[in-house]
Amino acid sequence: MCGIVGAIAQRNVSEILLEGLSRLEYRGYDSAGICTIAGNKFSCIKTTGKVKVLKDEVNLVGCPGLIGIAHTRWATHGVPSKENAHPHICDHLALVHNGIIENFQELKQELIAAGYSFKSQTDTEVLVCLIHSMLKKSSSVLDAFKLALARVKGSYGLALVDLNDPDTLYAARSGSPLIIGLGIGENFIASDTLALLPVTRRFIYLEENEIAAITTRAVRVFDLNGCEVDKKIIESDLDAESISKGEYRHYMQKEIFEQPTSLQNTLIGRIIDDKISNETVVGIDDNTFKDTNFIQIVACGTSYHAGMVARYWFEELTGVATNVEIASEYRYRKAVVPDNALFVTISQSGETADTLASLRLAKEQKFKNSLSICNVNGSSLVRESDYTLFTKAGAEIGVASTKAFTAQLLSLLLLALIIAKQKQAITEEKYKEIITSLRALPALCQDFLSCDKQIAALSEQFSGKHHCLFLGRGVMYPIALEGALKLKEISYIHAEGYAAGELKHGPIALIDNEMPVVVVAPDNALMDKLVSNVEEVRARGAQLYIFVDNKAQLKNDKQTQKVALPSCPEILQPILYTIPLQLLAYYCAVINGTDVDQPRNLAKSVTVE
Ligand code: F6R
Repeated sequence: MCGIVGAIAQRNVSEILLEGLSRLEYRGYDSAGICTIAGNKFSCIKTTGKVKVLKDEVNLVGCPGLIGIAHTRWATHGVPSKENAHPHICDHLALVHNGIIENFQELKQELIAAGYSFKSQTDTEVLVCLIHSMLKKSSSVLDAFKLALARVKGSYGLALVDLNDPDTLYAARSGSPLIIGLGIGENFIASDTLALLPVTRRFIYLEENEIAAITTRAVRVFDLNGCEVDKKIIESDLDAESISKGEYRHYMQKEIFEQPTSLQNTLIGRIIDDKISNETVVGIDDNTFKDTNFIQIVACGTSYHAGMVARYWFEELTGVATNVEIASEYRYRKAVVPDNALFVTISQSGETADTLASLRLAKEQKFKNSLSICNVNGSSLVRESDYTLFTKAGAEIGVASTKAFTAQLLSLLLLALIIAKQKQAITEEKYKEIITSLRALPALCQDFLSCDKQIAALSEQFSGKHHCLFLGRGVMYPIALEGALKLKEISYIHAEGYAAGELKHGPIALIDNEMPVVVVAPDNALMDKLVSNVEEVRARGAQLYIFVDNKAQLKNDKQTQKVALPSCPEILQPILYTIPLQLLAYYCAVINGTDVDQPRNLAKSVTVE
């Protein structure tokens, strides 16, 4: 989704801004722009397409200045074009914006009546004109900024510069994340810490409805009422190298192969004396979940699939009834909330608008407590939840979530064990058995990755295919959904996941010899049932790709290709069987020549509804 970078320094800022934009590319965008102030005038350059195009243009014509703002735009109002790209300028003000101004049409009509005219179709241009119009009623740009924001309905992360005061950078946030980076004699703003890692690791997180005035020497943050707010400085544990591709061709590939390490990182310090330490979840004690009677999990996309797996684990290990729902649905539903209910959100970014809105709704409902499973320290979800379990997957740059998903699954399993222990719902034997399995997970993950070459070869057979089905049963059903999501989002092959037993209730009509069917079939209690479902598909001519335990008695034939995978404990199967499906999606995308790390129309952090 859109990215913002701003800088004020005693050196030329255009390089900092462009490097920041490059580091935000992973979020998804369709055009980019930069605006600096030098010699009492704006230098403003905008381009469609990649940041590289903008960089080339800046190198050609120059964009000097000690203060500036820059933006990558993911079109909402108006097509991707130079005119609609940010920054938008009104007289001596220039603005970049993430989010959506819902009442922009009404404001636009008022501004037209007051004599303003517009070059773009964007809500952002309306907002910069609105701020400008408020200058008549106020004594400063900061006041005009506040007055304008009071008129706005919707969400925003904003960065503003004023030609008449090139010593101040302004920022505001409501609904879209924004951080301030602190340098020495220079300060920055961005929508994501990753953008600023080459220049600082010290950050201030703007909260909802806060507005900031930033100079080279000072950062002042105000609330809605104009009162100055004391802000905490948070040191990031990421470094600039966290976003290097290393020897890999794509970030996604690197992130798939990083999983033995990322899973190890999720485990480090969490198992102490054969027990999951309470410190795994920030803020809990021995009794936090003792009375928990109901768990509601809410998330989007891949994180939702992690939640679906967790429901099996929570109910089996803790005995607590668990519901899992897509955040965009939950937030508009009148859910019945029992006593002693725990609200769990799952999110890689911690900024997903629907998940955040659901958490805010849950706080109004009668949930006893809220817990976020999140990969980003300092994110909105983390700040607003009672407790947090950090997934510790490290920065994930590829738009398609891979290592964050397996880290979410592992984190959810840790949480299930903590709750099970507190509720005394699990036998000592079962608990120990799972702890032993967890210790083996990183090495097993490495073993699973050795199917890489076989999957690369097998992917060739998907070339030219337009559709694909993924089947799984029980806890592997959400993994089939995740396999299908990965394939469709990066290779653009239409793919659907089904619970294998559901196939004959409709989707089996799609099966013919042009339809590849991927079956996730680890050795578990539902294996025999799954085999019967597979026979139904085989009888209708489907091309079968079966991911099985290497001990399974299954022969390759004209219609069937077996991918034999290492034997593993049943509890780890959802985590480990995800890996070959990620590889399949990756290689199909490479063969189809798509933009693997930034697939079309997608954004890494979905901060609008
Ligand atoms: C798919 C993918 C998305 C995200 C979804 C939620 O590969 O990454 O489906 O899982 O947009 O994002 P987070 O986890 O940041 O809330």
